[in-house]
Amino acid sequence: MTRVLSGVQPSGDLHLGNYLGALRQWAVHQHDHDAFYCIVDLHALTLEIDPKVLRARTLDTAANLLAAGLDPEVCTVFVQSHVPEHPRLTWLLECTATMGELNRMTQFKDKGRGQDAVRAGLFTYPVLMAADILLYDADRVPVGDDQRQHLELTREVAVRFNNRYGPTFTVPEAAIPTVGARVMDLQHPERKMSKSVDSPLGTVAMLDDPAEVARKVRKAVTDTDGEVRYDPEAKPGLSNLLELLAAATDRRPEDVATDYERYGDLKRDLTDALVELLRPVRARHAELSSDPGALHAVLARGAARAHEVAAATYARAAAAMGLLPA
Ligand code: TRP
Repeated sequence: MTRVLSGVQPSGDLHLGNYLGALRQWAVHQHDHDAFYCIVDLHALTLEIDPKVLRARTLDTAANLLAAGLDPEVCTVFVQSHVPEHPRLTWLLECTATMGELNRMTQFKDKGRGQDAVRAGLFTYPVLMAADILLYDADRVPVGDDQRQHLELTREVAVRFNNRYGPTFTVPEAAIPTVGARVMDLQHPERKMSKSVDSPLGTVAMLDDPAEVARKVRKAVTDTDGEVRYDPEAKPGLSNLLELLAAATDRRPEDVATDYERYGDLKRDLTDALVELLRPVRARHAELSSDPGALHAVLARGAARAHEVAAATYARAAAAMGLLPA
């Protein structure tokens, strides 16, 4: 069975873009792949974060992943720092990747911009990510378009290691989603829905209640020509609403458009569809959050399963490089 691995930052509230573009796909793929999903708390340390907040968000991200449909009986959900081979393999890979390669990473430049004390970990972030992937012999790595460059680096490091030290790592493919990947901000439809930009009205959280969903859809920016037509260039706001309704109901936005003459009717049906889509997610999240002990137990089982795979890969890599077995 094909192995997939992906990682998610423990960054608090997930939104509709995360759900439609990633989590919903992960939940589908757990059934036809050997799937590993990692909450990357070590990556979160590369930027300033309050320890209490990190701890709470890590557990809440686990609740969100399960609420979105990941079944810990079917796939492996775990926390990165619970598996010590992640930082261990990172060191071996830091001695494989070059400064020049890391210097070219655009995300490092973006995230480091304007900070006066950039953490060394932010610079080596992509190497830790490569370790996340290579430890599990992942064939496919579902990620957003913004992670394409990191995946390319992972592949180059894997190939270089294999050439220098002998076949050790599986060289992974990026799997960049096409459907539901373009969820745009409801207030600024020219940019992606994102938690990092401050747009409370433009971002529908996965756990928004029905009244909040209704308010945000009602206030969503459209245009004044009054024609319901799928045309992302000329009508970005309206086209985003059509794409959302299409994604929520498994149709094509062009087809959805033919059902409507008035923006108001489209918004009403979109509200209903999103409320129904998110209702079970909210309910499961509430249930999971009421029993933190059970969540910890799920993560402990996930870490044990992940560790079995990771330990074998790490031992292979360490031996290949000439480290004396303990
Ligand atoms: N860097 C990724 C992001 O910000 C998260 C991540 C860390 C990841 N390790 C990974 C994604 C391994 C895929 C595979 O979205």
